[in-house]
Amino acid sequence: MTPISLFALAAAVASTVTASSNCTRDFLAKAAEQYVQAQTAGSPVLLSQILSPHAAYKENDMPLDVTKGVLSQAIKIDRTHRYYDTAQCGGLVELIAASPNATASGTPYLIHTRFLYGNGTADNITLIESVVTKPGDWAFNATGYLHYDGIESWPAIPVDQRDTRSVIQAAGDAYFDRFDNVSVVIPMASACARLEGGSYTARGNFSANTCDGYPSTILVTDRRYIVDEVYGVVDIFEGFPGLDRSVPKVAVPDSHLFRVENGKIRYIHTVSHCINYNCGLNSTTFGRRAFKSVGV
Ligand SMILES: *[C@@H]1O[C@H](CO)[C@@H](O)[C@H](O)[C@H]1NC(C)=O
Ligand SMILES: *[C@@H]1O[C@H](CO)[C@@H](O)[C@H](O)[C@H]1NC(C)=O
Ligand SMILES: *[C@@H]1O[C@H](CO)[C@@H](O)[C@H](O)[C@H]1NC(C)=O
Ligand SMILES: *[C@@H]1O[C@H](CO)[C@@H](O)[C@H](O)[C@H]1NC(C)=O
Ligand SMILES: *[C@@H]1O[C@H](CO)[C@@H](O)[C@H](O)[C@H]1NC(C)=O
Ligand SMILES: *[C@@H]1O[C@H](CO)[C@@H](O)[C@H](O)[C@H]1NC(C)=O
Ligand SMILES: *[C@@H]1O[C@H](CO)[C@@H](O)[C@H](O)[C@H]1NC(C)=O
Ligand SMILES: *[C@@H]1O[C@H](CO)[C@@H](O)[C@H](O)[C@H]1NC(C)=O
Repeated sequence: MTPISLFALAAAVASTVTASSNCTRDFLAKAAEQYVQAQTAGSPVLLSQILSPHAAYKENDMPLDVTKGVLSQAIKIDRTHRYYDTAQCGGLVELIAASPNATASGTPYLIHTRFLYGNGTADNITLIESVVTKPGDWAFNATGYLHYDGIESWPAIPVDQRDTRSVIQAAGDAYFDRFDNVSVVIPMASACARLEGGSYTARGNFSANTCDGYPSTILVTDRRYIVDEVYGVVDIFEGFPGLDRSVPKVAVPDSHLFRVENGKIRYIHTVSHCINYNCGLNSTTFGRRAFKSVGV
């Protein structure tokens, strides 16, 4: 793993989230806020005080020096979703940056980032990993993502209606298990919408389940979870073979953020990194249900 080499730069950073073995939501929220501020400023140094000196940092499954990645560029962020997993001591941040001047280069971004303190025992973050997407990634349209996300509602779930951690995670797992086993029944709400990089399944009917239509021979590997019972959320980072048609055997870096209500999937947000531009699809073959149309 590439060691993070920003400690030499850390001298001037103001006091920040401090070490604690109390992994509360508040504690994780401060870490998430610090991450968002670092990305907004394009200053990975702002993370130095909450990262373990030996922390792993990855973008799209590649180990990277945190000072050399997307965090070193300022991004004007339009909206975030933030979820906290107190059992694992970690969190998930979804960043939506859609404006024409989102970055100095004009590139918009959609990013899912998970961070872990290390089973609630470490004083500092031991892992930050992101699926970083931009034009050329799966169905990328940050304007669309911002728009459709904005018409959804993901409020905290009333205490007496919350699902257990295992029920929430099982819903997300069933979804991916179905990709290589047609016998798996996904607990799907009567209304379900999936937002994939900016294309939206529910454009025709917001009260229907428009999430159906799955592959049956795709083994989704290397699943990594963040679960937040308060919001009924499980995010799964995984490898998704077949998505990039130009390299179908490669399990591409992917994150699916599931909103689960009463044990059933209500919303899904996905960001998927393409190895090659548009995952090998062109304007003719690229549709919102592309994997159905090419028959996987
Ligand atoms: C846990 O939090 C409580 C209240 O903030 C504090 O008094 C205590 O010292 C903390 N324990 C550790 C091990 O950080
Ligand atoms: C946490 O990070 C700070 C800042 O780099 C460092 O001084 C401290 O030793 C780290 N603590 C642990 C337990 O890694
Ligand atoms: C981006 O553009 C908006 C509207 O055009 C403007 O209000 C804002 O100041 C610009 N932000 C930056 C960082 O240039
Ligand atoms: C957390 O604990 C599990 C099981 O003991 C271990 O496999 C994993 O590496 C640990 N994760 C971290 C970040 O320390
Ligand atoms: C992106 O989404 C916006 C909002 O839904 C839509 O107006 C626009 O046509 C989309 N762009 C592309 C290239 O599909
Ligand atoms: C496929 O899913 C069904 C229903 O959950 C399960 O009984 C069966 O064992 C699964 N098959 C495989 C090969 O995992
Ligand atoms: C939308 O979906 C709901 C639930 O399936 C169905 O009852 C309704 O007729 C649909 N409306 C339209 C306009 O298709
Ligand atoms: C798009 O890709 C398909 C399948 O590879 C190919 O048949 C078609 O000619 C391509 N169209 C364009 C406009 O490149």
